[in-house]
This record gives sequence, structure tokens and C-alpha cells, in this order.
Amino acid sequence: MRKKITVIGAGRVGETTAHILAERALGDVVLVDVVDKLAEGKALDLMELRPLAGSDVTIMGSTDYAATKDSDVVVVTSGMPRKPGESREDLLKKNIAIVRSVVGEVKKASPNAILVMVANPLDTMTWVAKELTGWPRNRVFGMAGILDTARLRTFVAMELGCSVKDVTAFVLGGHGDEMVPVVRYASVGGIPLERLLPKEKIDAIVKRTRGAGGEIVKLLGFSAYFSPAAAAVDMVQAVLKDEKRVLPCSTFLDGEYGARGIYLGVPVMLGATGMERVFEVELNAEERAMLDASVKLCSESIDAARKLLQVAPAAV
Ligand SMILES: NC(=O)c1ccc[n+]([C@@H]2O[C@H](COP(=O)([O-])OP(=O)(O)OC[C@H]3O[C@@H](n4cnc5c(N)ncnc54)[C@H](O)[C@@H]3O)[C@@H](O)[C@H]2O)c1
Repeated sequence: MRKKITVIGAGRVGETTAHILAERALGDVVLVDVVDKLAEGKALDLMELRPLAGSDVTIMGSTDYAATKDSDVVVVTSGMPRKPGESREDLLKKNIAIVRSVVGEVKKASPNAILVMVANPLDTMTWVAKELTGWPRNRVFGMAGILDTARLRTFVAMELGCSVKDVTAFVLGGHGDEMVPVVRYASVGGIPLERLLPKEKIDAIVKRTRGAGGEIVKLLGFSAYFSPAAAAVDMVQAVLKDEKRVLPCSTFLDGEYGARGIYLGVPVMLGATGMERVFEVELNAEERAMLDASVKLCSESIDAARKLLQVAPAAV
């Protein structure tokens, strides 16, 4: 039996996720959107791409969650971007309402699925999804760190003129400006990055990585979607193929890194049962201070979401 993957939201990230999934033939794909015929039309186009891609999986689109029944993995990309003049709280309200409706349907249709959250604000929406499903942390995690790391790896490779394949790195912390690129752990072909580039160059790369999402919005007028979709697919693949990949993902922390009850980007192992292990790395004082700032921001956003959901604060 083929695996079944549902992608909620047939916007830019959702359609591209479905496209890459279809090309990699990881399983049958169901694309869902609230907009009538949108997912259906995009799925049909992807079905017709299959002879050219040499892929036999099926892609169907629907507004009805019945089509998603018994999915193995569900990727949630449904979310609204912030409009000019809109407050963070108003955006949070809107996106919580979307995640609430989506996750309620997913829970009914696919009670054993693994949820990969993509909608922003990422760490908060992933927390909302866990809170509303009541699922264990191994089955609810978010995509951000892989994308942020891919951006860091890209800029390092561009600077050195080397293959992106040989650059390994990871970022910690919340998605967005508060990410913590721990460059001490970055290497190129096994050589520590700090031996290959001077501090000023590394600092410039870190700064560009932090602002990479905004750099694309400035150019396009909307957010990135090719790389976010590819990052989400890497997570789906790690689960469906039990790859045991070690990737930075937004993960519910239960004391690791000194935080509890929040989602934050940390290196984890992804395999058949989802998030199978959290890796704790030693941090120096500067990295610890950056991570603490990130924990504080994530906690504040999750507290705001908790108030909106009207649930009791998690025990600390
Ligand atoms: N985690 C990351 O690194 C990352 C990267 C890029 C984008 N994002 C986020 O992903 C989300 C999607 O981005 P996008 O560029 O695809 O946006 P988009 O506007 O192109 O697509 C969003 C889609 O969601 C659909 N939708 C809205 N409410 C829905 C509901 N209740 N049920 C089903 N579908 C619904 C919309 O109709 C739309 O088609 C945004 O929240 C964005 O901020 C996250």
C-alpha cells in the first residue's frame, strides 16, 4: 500500500509541496483548500505532470476532509500573511482560527497521522496544533530550522565557492529574527567554518540568514515558497522512509535546553514515529544568551495564543 500525504492549503507553499511530493513519488497526495476548485485544479495539473515526471502516485484536490481519511502525514500550510497595518495579535487570531478548523478536521479524518506544521507564526501555530489535537510531541512538529539552515548553508557555499552539499550547519531557536545560528558547529567537508572564514564574513552570513525571509519578501512582495516546500518535503520523506535524519525542527520542549511547554527549533531525529529524539548541544555564554532571548519571545507568543485559546497555562 502506498503512503498517503495530505497537504492543507493549496497556496504557494502548499502547491509546491504537493509538486515536490509528486516528483519524489513518496506517496499519494491529497491537496485541500477552502477555496472551491483551487486544490482540485492544481491537483489535476499535477496528475498530468506525472507522465513527464515518471511518477505513478496520485494527486487529488478537494475542499472535503473525507478525501484525506487515514493519511500517514499531514502538512499544514494554510495561513494568512500579515497585512500592512495589521497587528500581530489580529494575525494570530486569524491564523489560530484557521489552524483550529484544520486541525479539528485532521484529527477526525486521520487520528494516527503525523503533523508537520508550516503556517506562521510557526512555533506558536505548532504549539496550537499540539494543544488542539492533544497528540504527543513526536507526532506534532514544525518546519523552520531546515529552511533557515538551508539559507545559512547557501550563503556559506556562495562565500567559499564550494558545493552546498559539503556545508553542514544548524540553527537553533525560534523561526524569524530570533533564530540562533550556532556557527561554532558549522563545518565544510568536516573543516570547522571558523577555520575557513574570518569572523566579519561569518557575521555577515549570519545577519543575511536572519533576514533571509525578509530579503525575499522585499524582492517578490510575498514570502518564499520553493525552499520552504522542499524543506517540508524533506521532513515528510524522513518520516515515511524512516531515514533517522538529524534536522533542526520546531519541537515541543520538555526541559531540554532549559525550556518546558513551548515549541522551539532544536536538532532532532526524524523517523517512522516522527520526532524520535532531541539532541542537546553544549552552548557557550553568548549562544546561551541568544537562545534565552529566543525562548522568551516564543514563550510570549505562545502565552498570547494560550489566552486566545483560553486554556490553562502549562505546568512549569
Ligand atoms: N515555516 C516557514 O518557514 C514558512 C515559510 C514560508 C511560508 N510559511 C507560512 O506558510 C503559510 C502559507 O504560505 P503561502 O505562501 O502558501 O500562502 P498562500 O496565501 O499562498 O496560501 C495559503 C492558502 O491557505 C488557504 N487556506 C486559508 N484558510 C484555510 C483553511 N481554513 N483550510 C484550508 N486552506 C485554507 C488559502 O486559501 C490559500 O490558498 C503562511 O502562514 C506562511 O507565513 C512558513
